[in-house]
Amino acid sequence: MNPKLWSGRFKKNTNKLVDEFTSSLPFDSRLYKHDIEGSIAHVKMLSKCKIISPDEAVKIEDGLSEIYREIESSKFIFNIADEDIHMAIERALIDKIGPVGGKLHTARSRNDQVTLDVRLYLKDEVKFIGKLILGLQCELMELAKDNMEVILPGYTHLQHAQPILFSHYLMAYFFMLERDFERLKDCYKRTDIMTLGAGALAGTTFPIDREYVAKQLGFSRVSENSLDSVSDRDFIVDFLSAASLIMVHLSKFCEELIIWSSSELNFIELDDAFTTGSSMMPQKKNPDVAELIRGKSGRVFGHLMGLLATLKALPMAYNRDLQEDKEGLFDTIDTLKLSLEIFTGMLSSMKIEEKKMKEAAEEGFTNATDAADYLATKGIPFREAHEIVGKMVVNCIDKGCRLSDLSLDDFKKFSLLYDEDIFEVMSIKNSVNRKNSFGGTSTKSVNKQITIAEKIIEKEQTWLTLE
Ligand code: ARG
Repeated sequence: MNPKLWSGRFKKNTNKLVDEFTSSLPFDSRLYKHDIEGSIAHVKMLSKCKIISPDEAVKIEDGLSEIYREIESSKFIFNIADEDIHMAIERALIDKIGPVGGKLHTARSRNDQVTLDVRLYLKDEVKFIGKLILGLQCELMELAKDNMEVILPGYTHLQHAQPILFSHYLMAYFFMLERDFERLKDCYKRTDIMTLGAGALAGTTFPIDREYVAKQLGFSRVSENSLDSVSDRDFIVDFLSAASLIMVHLSKFCEELIIWSSSELNFIELDDAFTTGSSMMPQKKNPDVAELIRGKSGRVFGHLMGLLATLKALPMAYNRDLQEDKEGLFDTIDTLKLSLEIFTGMLSSMKIEEKKMKEAAEEGFTNATDAADYLATKGIPFREAHEIVGKMVVNCIDKGCRLSDLSLDDFKKFSLLYDEDIFEVMSIKNSVNRKNSFGGTSTKSVNKQITIAEKIIEKEQTWLTLE
């Protein structure tokens, strides 16, 4: 077996189980592209600063590029005893180009190298996730535009509250996701810091140029303190926390889709391509996809808690505990990307049962507030109007009818201020369209929200294309 790259100080080989236990290669091999990118930038800097010769730099660069191609084409053989992707690549380089390959690690430690790699990798992933969020936001906006007439009951406490536009409901998720987008941008900002040059913990004796490395790799700034550089994983916590909230939002929407697709409500029908059957009950069409997204939110929250627990009370600077940051991060990224993509497909393919929604919106006295507002507009203190309509509702429950089934005479029994126009005020459509306050559910107000959303989409599109 090959000796370790750090074997100088050791008299014995590593225990086999310890190799397995300590190796991060099975999961951090996904960092290969960013590791090589970082190494090439480092080697260019070493040459520019005359720490190695230009000739040596070219040899190392070519060797690294070849290794990159070998990994891409699955020709590269990974050996678990190499500990991690950084050592695997360095060993392969030395095997390929000889002892000069050993110069790559001048003025560098794996401690600063690993955070550089994760930062480079996460920056790419954050942008990709941003794209998926924006895609979902666009889908929500299109759905809203296409369904401006659709009314459904709005709920509080899962009880019928007031009728709302379906588009209003969709736009609520648009703005939720916009906060998620903002959080991702914030997390990007904290990830966009170049940490290479911190060495193992204290910096280096070599005359390096960190700004040059940052520039080559597209980082907007350089970390200020080497101890902080190698121990900081806050940016990963930021990401896991932003990811957790995205999953909270998706899980809420999924819960609603599951309830809406129940035979009791039938507000929507999920497409066959986004549902599954039962192995026993032939009639079943189950919302498993929505349930799984709802369920997967739990593992993402778990990764956030896991990393916080790993970081708590860690002494400075680098400790191997920090290697535990990766599996949770990678799993979160995979889970989040799949969830966002599948959710968007599920949403765009579902059938909206407009009639069912409207019928439900008319049940449960959803226009009771309108009857109270009517009296309040005519000068009755709202508290009293509320009391009067409450009594009307009880009366209707006893009779088994809706408020709008009452005659004008019935209305007048509760208040003489009621007139013929109350019926128009109480219609579900008017109940919605009179809620014209900024941010309200009327068509006018939702159209305003859509206009705002269009500007937001433009802004975020620009951010996504920025380097
Ligand atoms: N695989 C390690 C990690 O993921 C890389 C750094 C290891 N450094 C060390 N001195 N053992 O954190």
